Amino acid sequence: MCGIVGYIGNREAYPIVLKGLKRLEYRGYDSTGVAIIQDGKLQVHKKKGKVVELEDAVVGINMHSNICIGHTRWATHGEPSDRNAHPHLSNNGRFAMLHNGIIENYAPIKKELISKGYTFKSDTDTEVLLNFIQEIQDNNKSTLEEALRIALKRIVGAYCILLIDQDDPETIIAARKGSPLVIGIGKDEHFLASDASPIIEYTKEVVYVNDYEIAIVKKDELILKNLGNEKQTPFIQKLDMELAAIEKGGYEHFMLKEIFEQPETIYDCLRGRLLHEELEIVMAGVDHNIDALTNASRIIIVACGTSWHAGLVAEYVIEELCRIPVEVEYASEFRYRNPIVHKGDVIIAISQSGETADTLVALEKAKEQGAFIFGVVNAVGSSIARLSHAGAYTHSGPEIGVASTKAFTGQLAVLNMMALKIAKAKGTIKTEYYLHLLQELQDVPEKVEAILKNADELKVIAAKYVTARDFLFLGRGYNFPIALEGALKLKEISYIHAEGYPAAEMKHGPIALVDENLPVVFIATKDSYHEKIISNMQEIKARKGKVISIITDGDEVSPTLSNDTFSIPSADEIIAPILSVIPLQLLSYYVGTLKDVDVDKPRNLAKSVTVE
Ligand code: AGP
Repeated sequence: MCGIVGYIGNREAYPIVLKGLKRLEYRGYDSTGVAIIQDGKLQVHKKKGKVVELEDAVVGINMHSNICIGHTRWATHGEPSDRNAHPHLSNNGRFAMLHNGIIENYAPIKKELISKGYTFKSDTDTEVLLNFIQEIQDNNKSTLEEALRIALKRIVGAYCILLIDQDDPETIIAARKGSPLVIGIGKDEHFLASDASPIIEYTKEVVYVNDYEIAIVKKDELILKNLGNEKQTPFIQKLDMELAAIEKGGYEHFMLKEIFEQPETIYDCLRGRLLHEELEIVMAGVDHNIDALTNASRIIIVACGTSWHAGLVAEYVIEELCRIPVEVEYASEFRYRNPIVHKGDVIIAISQSGETADTLVALEKAKEQGAFIFGVVNAVGSSIARLSHAGAYTHSGPEIGVASTKAFTGQLAVLNMMALKIAKAKGTIKTEYYLHLLQELQDVPEKVEAILKNADELKVIAAKYVTARDFLFLGRGYNFPIALEGALKLKEISYIHAEGYPAAEMKHGPIALVDENLPVVFIATKDSYHEKIISNMQEIKARKGKVISIITDGDEVSPTLSNDTFSIPSADEIIAPILSVIPLQLLSYYVGTLKDVDVDKPRNLAKSVTVE
């Protein structure tokens, strides 16, 4: 899950690629590198660390060129280091290549090449593929493009690669399978990147390259071909995002900006779908497939990380409103567990990036077995969106912070609207309750606004517990997945060990962890589980645990059992998770910043996990 950027045109290429790498740094940031061709000579500059370290390293070097490819890395094969950073050079010094993905059968190919006298400067699978391409070209006396095509037919794995040839400074050759590639079309110039964020300031005309396609890119020409060497017609799309959407807009971090954007992003997600006048929900992807959804004998939700937590909330909501059995699967386990998938089964795939490899390969498997795939995705034009039979975008806008925040509340809003539509179509919800929930959804953006107004209270709570070694997050019912999400956010952003649990599960073991040093966060909003969670609070209190509770305005009992409370507006228990997660996002943000963590790019993580 690296970030790749390329430019070919009449402008100075290096500055454009460098800026693009900074935009993509959320995809991986343990080492970076660029390659240019200057006066017929290849130059490769690469460095361990973030893009700024590369930028500092090339100060004073003449980087003039109209062709440049660049890479920011999330290590898979070979530890983060200068020699394992991309781009890599071929043994003959003529080709430079960078790669996002994993070549699974690189070891036998490497062995074969070593037996032919090839040497390797890095531990990467990428350098193996590059020398394999050189070997094929030398043997077949073929063009570089042809050699690449032959090599790609022989490898197993996922890739997005950019390849340049010292002897052909007018061309960038690119190819993809599994890892994303977007090409921006300008006047006598082309931009290549893992997603649109490095391209948006130059052009809105883009082509999303499909799996098994090769792109031959010149400044005034873009040719797409499949591995059968047949030309493909590029499908040019217009980007519907603005540059401002990927700028910090005065916030210290993208994460904080994205948390505070949620009143608008949730409104954007509901807009044009939740029709208040007509008291109706319109979702094209659901409307056109309502039979498949209402007649489903079961629904399987497949996702990873935060998206999996959204799936868990949806399980509770869909079973409650639609009376359809729901299973929530970790995509990585589902893919290799040989699951039982029947024709007509409905798979809901949830993904912010739409590029998560574990989810993508799980869907490909289920699709082969005849399942109906419904995608709930944020990134427009992404692989999961294109693989799904139908879907709904969350319209949360670009999410740059590695920790998912606004995309999560967007996912919950979409899944709630889906459940309401299916329940209405199935007649499993009374009209009165249906209209009540429509109103509750309508009121969410305003209530989120009210919560964000009190954000400073969470800064105070964060400061009290910033030195804690562990945290527990507890919730019941619809708030149990929110406890899991709160724990994940804190882990990701502050590196503090945290676990989420159904509150009643404590007495079956984890309660042994409780003492005066353990902060226990209760998501205790007013709902049908409230009495029960109060007694769980008493269990923790009795063992001197530090109770921090997220409560509903007007709750007078929970504060008596809590060391700290944060109050949020009341909402129906089905809708409340969209609200109760916000204070947990803020708590993790403030703890992380107090610990001086790079909250937008926490260690060892990446925004879109495009390798299995
Ligand atoms: C969440 O904050 C993390 N970035 C991570 O768990 C993420 O949710 C997971 O990788 C799934 O990503 P997706 O929604 O883009 O598929």
